[in-house]
Amino acid sequence: MRLSVVGCGYLGAVHAAAMASIGHEVVGIDVDGRKIEALSRGEAPFFEPGLPSILSDGIASGRLAFTTDVAAARGAKVHFIGVGTPQQKDGDAADLTFVNAAIDSLLPHLSPGDVVAGKSTVPVGTAASLALRVERTGARLVWNPEFLREGFAVKDTIDPDRLVVGVGVGDNASAEVLREVYAPAVDKGTPFIVTDLATAELVKVAANAFLATKISFINAMAEIAEVTGADVTQLADAIGHDVRIGRRFLGAGIGFGGGCLPKDIRAFSARAEELGRGESVAFLREVDEINLRRRDRAVQLAVDALGGSVFNKKIAVLGAAFKPHSDDVRDSPALDVAVRLYGLGASVVVTDPEAIDNARRAHPQLTYESSRDETIRDAEAVILVTEWDEYRRQLSPEHASTLTSGRAIVDGRNGLDAAAWRAAGWRYYGMGRP
Ligand code: UGA
Repeated sequence: MRLSVVGCGYLGAVHAAAMASIGHEVVGIDVDGRKIEALSRGEAPFFEPGLPSILSDGIASGRLAFTTDVAAARGAKVHFIGVGTPQQKDGDAADLTFVNAAIDSLLPHLSPGDVVAGKSTVPVGTAASLALRVERTGARLVWNPEFLREGFAVKDTIDPDRLVVGVGVGDNASAEVLREVYAPAVDKGTPFIVTDLATAELVKVAANAFLATKISFINAMAEIAEVTGADVTQLADAIGHDVRIGRRFLGAGIGFGGGCLPKDIRAFSARAEELGRGESVAFLREVDEINLRRRDRAVQLAVDALGGSVFNKKIAVLGAAFKPHSDDVRDSPALDVAVRLYGLGASVVVTDPEAIDNARRAHPQLTYESSRDETIRDAEAVILVTEWDEYRRQLSPEHASTLTSGRAIVDGRNGLDAAAWRAAGWRYYGMGRP
């Protein structure tokens, strides 16, 4: 099928390449000329495992092209909208500028019978108002939220755990078009859930709100563990055996960040307030606050580990990305902790396998070092804030001891073997662990 994808960021670029890889003819469109040039050469503008190969395969096959010219959308049967919906600069609500601009630019190129499929995360009610504009062209609008995780985006797009399509009243035909787009997944038995527009928009924010709540729940337990001597990782293992609870997303540490969870829960709260139902999701404010408190805690542990002051002391910060397998530093708890330690006068050196360039752009005041070992050399304390395997599994305490000047390790992700580090003579500080 001929498809267009408007917006070629983390979501749109992966979606365009993934759709080409399952046999569609796809044009990806973005206003950012440099991004389009890179994508056209088969280069991913960001780190995402598996993306470079499906990009170059798609381009070589002739089924995948990128352009800044939105007129190229003409003739496609389905037009996906994958632009960003960041947090507003002066508030918690989502900024819909890019969604509105994408729809406005697309309207002159739509034909009767086309389907516009919104994938961006939007406040509930947005799709219904966009539908009014789209329908004047004879095209239809559906909402098809995306659940991909950065780092696993290609797999999550080609082989998702569910597909959700919200349609206007009586518009089963558009849902069938989407079913055809996703035929390989549908044929494998992937649940294909057809809803109204509002439900589809809500499914997305509800899923992210639940995940954020789960993380803050275990981090709240970590706070209690800290004043009782309990160990939150054992607690998580124990409650996680209950299949109704499940162990995933019960990783206590410095909390969630990235371009989705933090802004999505804030936008959800803002939208609920507009709808007169602020109290229904008032707990999301607590979820946000617990999350931000954990960054303070990690900083405090580093201060404690260095005897009450980090001033002029070298601290090696392992990680800058908001999570492993990503170079994304948007709202990264790891980078935030590094910035706070720097603010306290520490001599901070940050390393990350993929995110140094993005981190440097966001926080040029910090010192960056690409080599892990050079980062920890002569450090008085080491703090692990992004649990890349390079730091979590491949750094032995014996090896680290040969490089550092101090023996203090703060494990901001509870990813290290505390007993092994202690046995090697280190003072180990976990999050919610004795
Ligand atoms: C999240 C959702 O997981 C996706 O389903 C969703 O599609 C996406 O947002 C989106 O809205 O686009 P992502 O932001 O890629 O995906 O990252 P996650 O894997 O959810 O991790 C989010 C944050 O939570 C990271 O900072 C991670 O370190 C943290 N986290 C995760 C924890 O602190 N503890 C855990 O147990 C799990």
